[in-house]
Amino acid sequence: SENALVDRFGRTVDYVRISVTDRCDFRCVYCMSEQMTFLPRPQVLSLEEIEQVAQAFVSLGVKKIRLTGGEPLVRKGIVDLCQRIASLPGLDELVMTTNGSQLPKLARPIREAGLKRLNISLDSLRPELFKELTRTGRLQQVLDGIEAARDAGFERIKLNAVILKGRNDNEVLDLVEFARERELDISFIEEMPLGQINEHARDETYCSSEEVRELIAQRYPLIESASKTAGPSRYYQMADSASRIGFISPHSHNFCHECNRVRLTVEGRLLLCLGNEHSFDLRELLRTPGTDQQVLQLAIIKAMDLKPEKHEFDLEAEPQILRFMNMTGG
Ligand code: GTP
Ligand code: 5AD
Ligand code: SF4
Repeated sequence: SENALVDRFGRTVDYVRISVTDRCDFRCVYCMSEQMTFLPRPQVLSLEEIEQVAQAFVSLGVKKIRLTGGEPLVRKGIVDLCQRIASLPGLDELVMTTNGSQLPKLARPIREAGLKRLNISLDSLRPELFKELTRTGRLQQVLDGIEAARDAGFERIKLNAVILKGRNDNEVLDLVEFARERELDISFIEEMPLGQINEHARDETYCSSEEVRELIAQRYPLIESASKTAGPSRYYQMADSASRIGFISPHSHNFCHECNRVRLTVEGRLLLCLGNEHSFDLRELLRTPGTDQQVLQLAIIKAMDLKPEKHEFDLEAEPQILRFMNMTGG
């Protein structure tokens, strides 16, 4: 079908990221504060409401949906939701970003439900540091999760590592080795200032993608990858490996001009940009009697006009975006 979603800057939106829960069994230091309060149930979209919105987007030409969180796999009914969204006619792929903890149990069911690809967060291979960074996570749980995902036959598994200076920046090569040995892709991410966290000052832990890339290039010459995905990642390859190495560099490499995505927050706000608050309240609309697919679709088309030109992250300033990452899943 034709794509009906074009913003004021001529960008076509064909990718939606849906946060299905703000809850998570981890408390990653860059994502959440230690005392996190979660939303009361009525404020969170129901599975039916999420499905309605997904359906509207796909009818409007969206080709890719990524489920995020919080941790999407702690939401009750997630397997069923995957199955419903995956079977929407016109959708090319349903994918997910997860912390991996529930994969030993759920990798196979979600694969069978039609989920194609997985991104799994892995910031450290050292049990102690892993614990420090995730506060409540256990490394072995995630390593088992990664194995379960491989066994379940996912097409491409990508690891995500947020690199923090003085914490895990000396693990970059170990993470690359880990990915190479398993033929996984891996992305290195610059931390973004979302929400007020107290663990560290974000300008002190900043580690640029450039630094990370140079570190890797000393051991493995990196070849710029031809496969340019519509996304923030810039990919490279190593001569002797199927693994791709991506860099997501919101600070050092602005990719907003080719942005193809919008987000649905856990409360049903259609968020037009991760680094801004421009949004449209779909929840209110969904809960208004008389809202059918047509009404929903028209509202979504109209909301595209709210998409701002670019994000405004500033590491030096107090976080302007008070919303925590788990509301939108990045
Ligand atoms: P693709 O869907 O394949 O492009 O995956 P992805 O790597 O974008 O998704 P993932 O959920 O694994 O996110 C990895 C990192 O990219 C997270 O830190 C996200 O916050 C970040 N990210 C994803 N999209 C955007 C974006 O539009 N803007 C910014 N600033 N960061 C983004
Ligand atoms: N900056 C950058 N990446 C983040 N993530 C969570 N919080 C942040 C942040 N503040 C990452 C997670 C996960 C992905 C969804 O987003 O590590 O891989
Ligand atoms: Fe949970 Fe992911 Fe946030 Fe870590 S980054 S606390 S795993 S939602």
